[in-house]
Amino acid sequence: MDPYIAANRANWDERVGIHVRNSTGFYGIDRLKAGGDTLHAIELAELGPVAGKRLLHLQCHFGLDTLSFARRGVIATGLDFSSTAIAAARALSLVTGLVADFVEANVYDAPAAAGAEFDLVFTSWGTICWLDDIRRWAAAAARCLAPGGVLYLADMHPAARLFEERDRRLVLSYDWQTPPERPLAFDDATTYNGDPTPLAATRTYEWQHPLSSIVDAVLGAGLRLTMLNEHEVLPWHAFPMMVPVGDGIFGLPPGHPRMPLAFSLKAVKT
Ligand SMILES: C[S@@+](CC[C@H](N)C(=O)[O-])C[C@H]1O[C@@H](n2cnc3c(N)ncnc32)[C@H](O)[C@@H]1O
Repeated sequence: MDPYIAANRANWDERVGIHVRNSTGFYGIDRLKAGGDTLHAIELAELGPVAGKRLLHLQCHFGLDTLSFARRGVIATGLDFSSTAIAAARALSLVTGLVADFVEANVYDAPAAAGAEFDLVFTSWGTICWLDDIRRWAAAAARCLAPGGVLYLADMHPAARLFEERDRRLVLSYDWQTPPERPLAFDDATTYNGDPTPLAATRTYEWQHPLSSIVDAVLGAGLRLTMLNEHEVLPWHAFPMMVPVGDGIFGLPPGHPRMPLAFSLKAVKT
């Protein structure tokens, strides 16, 4: 296996247990169990009606959004390369009684692992940064779609991903694109949900994908772009200075210059 993928998978395998334990309430597990769901206003508004659709959720983590779609009447399949994530997703499906298939696979292998007859391929919030080859991702997603099917992607904006917060200022910190063979390397002692449990597999690798590369990859996969939006909000505190501006939604503080924090796109297979 690719050493970068192996390192990332070891890290995600370890994070899952901490995320499912949910000591900080970062994840909406209780909300899902209580009959609600974990999808956000952005993706719900942009997707429109989903009931009855065959959906493939790429990089589904432990299945919160996949099962939220199932609650909305979707025929849902979640895919992730982490075996502990897939096991946790199946357990959550049993506990909640929400039915979905869960498949363990690298996202690039999605067509072989999950099939090619989906009405909707969905991926959101912290997914494409883990992938070295955005064209390969788009081609795989396109192959999973039935004719007329739609790819939906929502994630942190590539411009916002160039910054880190230091002393309450956003500082330009990263190149805008990452060569596949020279990823950004990080060593974080803990995961992002605020739980102090130390990680053993600390090393991760990420890639910056410019907006033009993402759009080019989607078009290159033979899809027709039907929506490209930019948003001043994100569903997590990407920068500590961010403040709540809605239900599970955060933005830059009042008075700070506005910039796009998220983007979303839809593309159809004709
Ligand atoms: C930040 S989480 C995505 C969270 C997502 N918003 C959700 O539904 O909860 C990123 C996920 O990508 C998965 N992942 C990373 N690289 C992958 C790859 N190459 N193939 C499949 N899954 C991958 C990780 O295991 C992790 O579950």
